[in-house]
Amino acid sequence: MKPISLASGYGNFSTPPTVLARIQQHLANQPLPHSATAGLPELRNALRLRYSGLQTDENSTHELVVTPGTKAALFLALSAVLRPGDEVLLLTPNWFGFAELVKAAGGFLRELPLSPTDNYALRPEAVRAALTPRTRVLLFSNPNNPTGRIYTRPELEALLAVTAQFPELFVLADEIYDGIRFGEEAVPSLLSCSTAPRSVVVNGFSKSHALVGWNIGYLAAARWIADACTARLFTTGGAVAVLSQLAALETVENPAISAALCQQLWLNRQLMLNFLAALPGALSHPPLGTYYAFPDLRAYLLPHLPLPEASADLVARLLAAGVEVVDGTSCGAPGFVRMSYAVASSELQEALRRLATVLR
Ligand SMILES: Cc1ncc(COP(=O)(O)O)c(C=O)c1O
Repeated sequence: MKPISLASGYGNFSTPPTVLARIQQHLANQPLPHSATAGLPELRNALRLRYSGLQTDENSTHELVVTPGTKAALFLALSAVLRPGDEVLLLTPNWFGFAELVKAAGGFLRELPLSPTDNYALRPEAVRAALTPRTRVLLFSNPNNPTGRIYTRPELEALLAVTAQFPELFVLADEIYDGIRFGEEAVPSLLSCSTAPRSVVVNGFSKSHALVGWNIGYLAAARWIADACTARLFTTGGAVAVLSQLAALETVENPAISAALCQQLWLNRQLMLNFLAALPGALSHPPLGTYYAFPDLRAYLLPHLPLPEASADLVARLLAAGVEVVDGTSCGAPGFVRMSYAVASSELQEALRRLATVLR
């Protein structure tokens, strides 16, 4: 039996037709524009308009740099601010990609576990207690990969009230899923909160804007950080391919693309949530963002095995039944699994049927 993968972080999204039309237009009108290392001015201006706190003139505290994907934005930003011996405090559960990025940028990772029963709430006193003089960066994704939790503006403001007391600390929010949300309210950007100069935001186009394979992202940071990132990009790679930048520009100017994506995901989300609702205690709070569910499957673990081994065993049993999922151990939460529903509906239905043969 060929396994169905619910493990990929990239959805089954096609490039939106308006993007294809725009790209074809540019290909017909050669030569392509030249891009400065930090990105095409029209893309950077369009992005600036997304953030209310970000001015377009020389008074702006933050600057934007277009990067070859969000991973690159994270790496550049972390490399710019981390000093030898610095640590990065990571809200957990977390995206498994962060650990290697922090290591590659020279930092030491420390996790701050959040509780599923508390809907992964960010308790200011817990954050304060976890920060040390060595903590240079507080890192999280909003909406969170893998939990799907969206942190609200009051929660972010409460967080910033704590971090403001640590003058050496940067708050780095990865907002790559900010267009994939199913509640009433838009996802608040860290940059739209009472902006501290030490807030850094990274974002990208491969999730919320359906630009899978175009490898483009950006960062917004204090000017000195943005300048350091641009200089590093200039030395190590250069500007992002202009066709990718023009594709990204189309998605920024056309918010209907993200809205259509959420609509496209709606039924699959319902299928997934209905399935998980039938597993007692698996999902006490439905995720409002991303296209993942992160159920607690600890009730299905073999009790005699240590937790990480038991988690790996469950993932292996699910694979043997024909479904590939991400082991929550890689996200700092053994016994949980991450399942994407950004797949074809027919595949999802069959995957859920197969999962039910193990989870019953
Ligand atoms: C939270 C998060 N950040 C960054 C990335 C990588 O994004 P990109 O494809 O833009 O490099 C991912 C991909 O899964 C992700 O989940």
